[in-house]
Amino acid sequence: MFRVNDNYQKLPGSYLFSTIAKKVSAYQEANPDRKLIRLGIGDVTQPIAPAIIEAMHKAVDEMSRAETFRGYAPDLGYDFLRNAIAENDYKARGCDISADEIFVSDGAKSDSGNIQEIFAADNRIAVCDPVYPVYVDSNVMAGRTGTYDPATETWSNVIYMPCTKENQFVPDFPKETPDMIYLCLPNNPTGTTITKAQLQEWVDYANRVGAVIIYDGAYEAYISEENVAHSIYECEGAKTCAIELKSFSKNAGFTGVRLGYTVVPKELKCGDVSLHAMWARRHGTKFNGAPYIVQRAGEAVYSEAGKAQLKDQVAYYMKNAATIKNGLKEAGYEVFGGVNAPYIWLKTPDRMTSWEFFDYLLETANVVGTPGSGFGPSGEGYFRLTAFGAYENTLEALERIRSL
Ligand code: MLT
Repeated sequence: MFRVNDNYQKLPGSYLFSTIAKKVSAYQEANPDRKLIRLGIGDVTQPIAPAIIEAMHKAVDEMSRAETFRGYAPDLGYDFLRNAIAENDYKARGCDISADEIFVSDGAKSDSGNIQEIFAADNRIAVCDPVYPVYVDSNVMAGRTGTYDPATETWSNVIYMPCTKENQFVPDFPKETPDMIYLCLPNNPTGTTITKAQLQEWVDYANRVGAVIIYDGAYEAYISEENVAHSIYECEGAKTCAIELKSFSKNAGFTGVRLGYTVVPKELKCGDVSLHAMWARRHGTKFNGAPYIVQRAGEAVYSEAGKAQLKDQVAYYMKNAATIKNGLKEAGYEVFGGVNAPYIWLKTPDRMTSWEFFDYLLETANVVGTPGSGFGPSGEGYFRLTAFGAYENTLEALERIRSL
């Protein structure tokens, strides 16, 4: 008789955003006349920029002719895209990352879930709390997290680094020494970040204790402050301790197109073992390359026209962020984030739990957000709103919340 991977049975509930989607669908079905405004999952709403659409059309046409048709993509990514990434995201910022250290993928969610596969089963992970749920859930599936305590909503073998208003959402170094440290900066869900000097301390810490940092930079395009690093490789010594994950979803609206990349520097080693070689082996075995059309779209992100159009798109969402943040502040809410990230993180009013506030907002304002406790126990009492909505909807949502 076959047996299943028991680790999956340990996962409590369904994936956060699936749970929310189900709740929202049930509400909408029961109340078909209500116009819901969805500021829950961080999904973009603006169309793909013209320069990118043009590149995609061109690539589609190439697929229609035998001379320019492409089959399997190179498993680690086309050179034209890897070179554009190396040039624009790294060399232009003074980071010494070469094109062959960049692994193109179908998005940062897959990479952030898969990357743990190249590490030992008994490694200890450390995560910020609250945190993007994929990091913990994927380690649960791999059997790395120990047992779940429903009372505290924590795993026995995970080191939690609380990030709350009390520590300005800056994680402290953990008391126990981790092997793998997940950092998402600017942060999802809190929308806050740390300075480059503080990030340098994390890099120094990881090198000192022999830990690897898995650095999720999905929201990098939203950084507005000078003293915040756009890549962990801006920090001295990061190439010997850090893997960086990047997404095209939030900076270029590719949530439905799917494209991302992971940087594994050649200097990153465990003894004599190269993590770069391991990830190349894993990628080559389990992934057949992102589609040609999508990689051409990715290349266009770095064209002059693409850059200008995306700057406007990011500004559009950040205007939403400022609108929500200022509007809620004026209405007496305690609000965080929204300066270097498209997320607003607020304290729930009247000591409501995160899920109580979720239901309250859904039912009375018909606005969907994300309960903070879904991201970890320290997210209890907080709530996340995304700035990725259309401006008109954002304004309306704000009005509805303010008039509660
Ligand atoms: C979020 O809402 O946290 C993200 O959009 C989810 C994701 O990127 O997978």
